[in-house]
Amino acid sequence: MGQFTSEEKEAMKAEAGIAACAFVENGMRIGIGTGSTVKYTILELGRRIREEGLEISGIPTSDATESLSIEQGIPMLEWSDCEHLDLVIDGADEFDSELHLIKGGGGALLREKIVAESSGGMIVVADASKRVEVLGEFPLPIEVNPYGWEQTKRRIEAICGGVVNRRGPDYLTDNGNPILDAHFGPTIEDPVKMEADLRAISGVVEVGLFTDTADVVVLAAPGGCELIRKPTARL
Ligand code: 5RP
Repeated sequence: MGQFTSEEKEAMKAEAGIAACAFVENGMRIGIGTGSTVKYTILELGRRIREEGLEISGIPTSDATESLSIEQGIPMLEWSDCEHLDLVIDGADEFDSELHLIKGGGGALLREKIVAESSGGMIVVADASKRVEVLGEFPLPIEVNPYGWEQTKRRIEAICGGVVNRRGPDYLTDNGNPILDAHFGPTIEDPVKMEADLRAISGVVEVGLFTDTADVVVLAAPGGCELIRKPTARL
């Protein structure tokens, strides 16, 4: 993670965020992710709306994304009027060779998962620091119900084996829930099973493991941008 300067990382985020916009066509309804990489996607979509007359609409995955999208002139949809999105563009905190993800560093994992599961395909925008062999170095964000969160934390600790920290005593997601960050270390060899095991705990609202969800990673490295497609990619 530490092999890039902050300037290099910012340049890679911009490159990935902008390159992903090539998937966006007139008339599409898109899911709009959250984070410092997707910020560049939103800015580029705003530019295309203003300068090229691109006609799209979208559903945001966080209040912050909604504000920036509105500022950029992207028309927002309500779930009452939208059953399906053409695609979603979102960031990730880690991804592995099968394109399983850790997400939720920005606390938006629940909305991000609802949006991803409602989309015809998921494009992940990432810089090279996000690519890992085995998931788990990045602490796994888990959104929990406020009721009895201390007990939910103990049950997560029993599975995790490492430390589980509540993210700030006053931190709440846009949905009003705490986040617990579970420090697995790079040990999540079977993310599909881990996602299921953690979701089975009452009190867990959503887990930041996104398994079999992403189709394409737009990966920016110092040498340029690379597209990594899953063999079963829908896009
Ligand atoms: C927010 C997320 C973000 O997509 C993830 O944290 C990556 O963010 P960034 O692009 O700022 O590194 O999952 O909940």
